[in-house]
Amino acid sequence: LGGASAQDLPKLKQKEKYKVGFAQTESNNPWRIAQTESMKAEAAKLGHQLVYTDAAGSAAKQVADVNSMIAQGVDLIFLAPREEKPLIPAVMAAKKAGIPVVLLDRNVDQSLAKAGRDYVTFIGSDFVDEGKRAGEALTKAVNGNAKIIQLEGTTGSSPANDRRKGFEDYIKAHPGMKVVASQSGDFARDKGRQVAETLLQAHPDATAIYAHNDEMAIGAIAALEAAGKKPGKDVIVVSVDGTRDALQAIIDGKMLATVACNPKFGPKAFETLARYAKGEKIEPWVINTDRFFDKSNATQLIADAY
Ligand code: AHR
Repeated sequence: LGGASAQDLPKLKQKEKYKVGFAQTESNNPWRIAQTESMKAEAAKLGHQLVYTDAAGSAAKQVADVNSMIAQGVDLIFLAPREEKPLIPAVMAAKKAGIPVVLLDRNVDQSLAKAGRDYVTFIGSDFVDEGKRAGEALTKAVNGNAKIIQLEGTTGSSPANDRRKGFEDYIKAHPGMKVVASQSGDFARDKGRQVAETLLQAHPDATAIYAHNDEMAIGAIAALEAAGKKPGKDVIVVSVDGTRDALQAIIDGKMLATVACNPKFGPKAFETLARYAKGEKIEPWVINTDRFFDKSNATQLIADAY
């Protein structure tokens, strides 16, 4: 793997103020809104101009958004690629135009593009580890025995692929832990509710739900209650993110735990931009470390949740 100073990666001049693109995937959940706010606040604090776009859940629109940023001559593009493969052409188009790209929070397909060669770096969490930690917490809570419904994130996105892998690899060593159904709820609350409703009808004996994000977990809790089941008692719910609603569900005894995934990228994103402009060699993965919320700390931490 090459470093960020590899010959073919576009350079960034040192300047006082930059015109920077941020291509967001969608704005339909508190995690995305917190991420956007963090990026906007940090850009404003540093006096940079932020060209912000919202792809509204469409990878095709996100590619068009990046192309428009290229046409506007931004200095650098922060891209949160909605899915791993469809955003590759956008990464390559920016590289061809001489504009460095930093991937934020989601990654692209590693067989098709590489940090240090095609884009500067990926700043984000270890999604495989998040899935593993959700698996560990659930396995412990149910003494190694559960019939699990998995609500997957957006199909083809790196957090959905990796959170599934981390969780499934972990539970493989526990023969009593069985995924009885697994389907995408697109990281969205209402889709998560609808999918959980259908899967609970097909698997009324399910005893656990693992959702790839809190929004789907909250949707699943609504589906459980509508089906006359008690979340947290009849069915144990675990997920990822650390939103205010999830912490409240933990406090209310409806959710076991959520593995935190920090959405506040602003400071790290712009610090990476400055390091790159200085000519520093950037590591291929700038890792965000994640906390863990359960009943031991949810009450204490909810005031700071988003
Ligand atoms: O890429 C991170 C995931 O995307 C978050 O878990 C989710 O809430 C968001 O939509």
